[in-house]
Amino acid sequence: MAGKIPQQFIDDLLNRTDIVDVINRRVPLKKAGRDFQACCPFHNEKTPSFKVNPTKQFYYCFGCGAHGTAIGFLMDYERLSFPEAIEELAASQGLEIPREISFEQGPDHRAIYALLEQVAGWYREQLSQHPQSARARAYLHERGLSETVAETFGLGFAPPGWDNVLKRFGRDPVARKRLDEAGLISQGERDRTYDRLRDRIIFPIRDGRGRVIGFGGRLLGDGKPKYLNSPETPVFHKGRELYGLYEARQAHRQLEQILVVEGYMDVVALAQFDIRNAVATLGTATTEEHLNKLYRAANEVVFCFDGDRAGRAAAWKALQTALPLMKDGRQARFLFLPEGEDPDTLVRKIGRQAFLEQLQHAQPLSEFLFARLESETDMQTIDGRARLAELARPLLGRLPAGTFRRMMEQALARRVGVEVDLPQAAREPSRPVSRRARGRSPATMPPVRRAVALLLQYPEIAEAELPEGWEQIEQPGMEVLRDLYQRIRAHPGSHSAALVEATEDPKLRGFLAQLAVAELAVEDDAAEQFRGVLRKLIETQRTRQRASLLDKGRPSSLSEEEKQRLRELYRRS
Ligand code: UTP
Ligand code: MN
Repeated sequence: MAGKIPQQFIDDLLNRTDIVDVINRRVPLKKAGRDFQACCPFHNEKTPSFKVNPTKQFYYCFGCGAHGTAIGFLMDYERLSFPEAIEELAASQGLEIPREISFEQGPDHRAIYALLEQVAGWYREQLSQHPQSARARAYLHERGLSETVAETFGLGFAPPGWDNVLKRFGRDPVARKRLDEAGLISQGERDRTYDRLRDRIIFPIRDGRGRVIGFGGRLLGDGKPKYLNSPETPVFHKGRELYGLYEARQAHRQLEQILVVEGYMDVVALAQFDIRNAVATLGTATTEEHLNKLYRAANEVVFCFDGDRAGRAAAWKALQTALPLMKDGRQARFLFLPEGEDPDTLVRKIGRQAFLEQLQHAQPLSEFLFARLESETDMQTIDGRARLAELARPLLGRLPAGTFRRMMEQALARRVGVEVDLPQAAREPSRPVSRRARGRSPATMPPVRRAVALLLQYPEIAEAELPEGWEQIEQPGMEVLRDLYQRIRAHPGSHSAALVEATEDPKLRGFLAQLAVAELAVEDDAAEQFRGVLRKLIETQRTRQRASLLDKGRPSSLSEEEKQRLRELYRRS
């Protein structure tokens, strides 16, 4: 996929972008010698092994092996696709992405985003200006929301009437089609089209980058349906998005903990009490994708559910989804609210401080898991304990390998009275990179690999004069070197990061990424070192060829051509 973007554009973009700046805005960096460093955002650690190298425009984590360019960082950290990451960087540099790129990369949704943004702005305006907006403001007031919080979340008002949005934003067929794509209009009987959201409080739903991707709308009083939401659209997928995540990340530089609640109102009400780390799923169960997003943002997730049957069932489902993601350092806890309360009503009743205290007593995943299973078995009998083992086995088996898994295994053994074999761990945890993978010491790196590393780290070498015949060297890996050389020649000024990023084959890209940060101990003249490696390779090749030609017997048995070649080989050495 990377290969489809013109290398020139990636070059320009990366040349204008400072990776230190890009990362520092998301993960505060400290200067450490020539590099910058921080605790790695991709795994849990106490001492920093995440390094950003401004010269190479590259980051590398010696703890978990994560590495890449500014583009790769955005993809992993913000969970963006390749084109989205390019778009993000381009936007921050004020660059327009050449049109054909967006088309090549799939459908272009910019028009939908732009429309959603406009409509969100218009809904906001209606909340303060529409002749009937007093009712909407009174409703928010009655629910205890201040104007500041309403603004933070961009709340709006869809006025009564069938076709306000339709009239204003759907003047021609193209515009109407776009309204439909954005999920803003519905089709009724006899193909009548009308605004999807009418006479409702509007909650704009934003994606991780703050773009409006859909809306939730609440009736101002009782009635059904209480909430109407945008349907799935090309830019809105309920199973992926979390209401309030963008706002939570805006409010906290580093989120330690995230609360998962059920409703829009819960998120907003908690924010009103300055608890700004709540997110809501959008009327769906918590998916693995949701959890992946959450654990990227924070190490601890607390699920707040109703204490009733349905709430417990939902919590149990969330627990099962979370199991495979419980890498060491991550935590999941469960807060069961008193019957009839949701976070909104509870925080209003007991206040911020008491609510935070309740959170502190939320049940850890391990406790919830065993308590639930034990409630289904009779722990007083051997049969009951055996049953517990049977129930727990597949669940614990889903935990990734690591300390937490071993502790759960022990906890199970204590309860059952004997060790219980678990199924194999689904995924290996990321291991510290071995010394070997960190880059061998410069002296022991095989010559072709060293040549690739030198050329990659110092692409200007391609401008220098190189020993004659280097292009004919036959050695494993030489095709990588030649390809890299040609790419640099074709795009002078490319830097390492861009070269790695534009490598199509993912395996090769990973290999190059490692070489791009390998320690080479180059004092000053990289080009001379590069020539040295090539000369050695040429020399080795000649020796081998001489030997093989001589091996063929007496020179007289050589063909004319071979004799000529042998003379040449002697002359050159
Ligand atoms: P709740 O009924 O708990 O809503 O539904 P709430 O947020 O507490 O709302 P208030 O306090 O009555 O205003 C939880 C979530 O389920 C979805 C919405 O996302 C809502 O926030 N839902 C609920 C719907 O999509 N449609 C509905 O009709 C009801
Ligand atoms: Mn509620």
